[in-house]
Amino acid sequence: MTTATDLNTPYYQIDVPALRHNLSIVQRLCELSGAKALLALKCFATWGVFDFMSPYLHGTTSSSLNEVRLGKETFGNGHAKETHAYSVAYSQAEIDEVLQYADKIIFNSFNQLNAFKAKAQAQNVPVGLRLNPQTSNSSFLIADPARPFSRLGEHDISKVSEVLGDITGVMIHNNCENNSFAAFSASLNDIETKFGEIFHQLEWVSLGGGIHFIAPDYPLEQLAARLKAFSEKYGVQVYLEPGEACIHGAAKLVTTVLDTLHNGKPLAVVDSSIEAHMLDLLIYRETAPVVEINGEACQLTAVAADSDVEQQNTIICGKSCLAGDIFGEYQLAQPLKTGDRVAFGNAAGYTMVKKNWFNGVAMPAIVICNDDGVLQVQKTFGYEDFKASLS
Ligand SMILES: Cc1ncc(COP(=O)(O)O)c(C=O)c1O
Repeated sequence: MTTATDLNTPYYQIDVPALRHNLSIVQRLCELSGAKALLALKCFATWGVFDFMSPYLHGTTSSSLNEVRLGKETFGNGHAKETHAYSVAYSQAEIDEVLQYADKIIFNSFNQLNAFKAKAQAQNVPVGLRLNPQTSNSSFLIADPARPFSRLGEHDISKVSEVLGDITGVMIHNNCENNSFAAFSASLNDIETKFGEIFHQLEWVSLGGGIHFIAPDYPLEQLAARLKAFSEKYGVQVYLEPGEACIHGAAKLVTTVLDTLHNGKPLAVVDSSIEAHMLDLLIYRETAPVVEINGEACQLTAVAADSDVEQQNTIICGKSCLAGDIFGEYQLAQPLKTGDRVAFGNAAGYTMVKKNWFNGVAMPAIVICNDDGVLQVQKTFGYEDFKASLS
């Protein structure tokens, strides 16, 4: 049996029992509310675990031709699942292929709707439109769909009313890791005030992703009741598009310390890189929790960067040339040494889908830890993959 120490680092390890834990919460929410849940592939598209995931979910939603195809081809293990297509903009060259895979297609703008609705209708693919309520629950401007001058969806109710004959539903995504039911509910009130009159004429409303209902203290029953009441009031099928909620906490990135230095504080360089393997840490200026050192589980959140209080804090750094390639600064019981293995948590969402070959840093393998704790190497990447990604 493969043990962790047999594996070359770096690798992402996906934990199937942790996936099941999250997904059983998603499933319960759907059972209580009548909503349907579609995995947002933009967050997590590691299709090697889709056979574990698909029994809990109704299908997938996508942001591109490649994702809609992946959802259609790999999600469901032979069982009928829904495949939603959405993109900020489709091209003329790809729309016919998108429609081959789509069970519903959601256009981002009136222009896209007008350009492609006839093709969709000719193929009996129900059509939707993305709406932008111009308010959101997002603490990051870069991830705020309602930011000023946002291109993400149409907002003018009178113009939306004119295209109601063309669409059967709408999609609204305006939450980002929102763990407050009160904030979600207030936002839904706001959406109802702005768009409620048209919802009565639709068959379905997708409320997007970004609702952090898997948090241990989240009032799941209240959320379910709110969604059910919404669905009954307007006579619509509600869809949710959870990404992060499906996979939160279900993977770690396992690395090895390659070198240590001292420059005012102890520094450890690991065989990975946030820019290449956990890009959102860089984009959102966040740090990764350390969840394991040399196979021993721990829960170390990073301390404030550059805090000069603790001269002994260790800064764990990536091996790319980017000066700010830093996983975080930690209070460790023991100093790290070359050869130590360090695993970072929260490594499932928006990581594997964003990994890249910056500096040619070795691409982490993908390893699956199944229900019996057996480790299976799902995929390794090498020089040929690096070379093939360029030309
Ligand atoms: C349209 C849409 N649906 C769903 C999601 C998934 O969001 P999350 O992973 O936060 O649940 C996103 C994320 O950006 C999105 O843009």
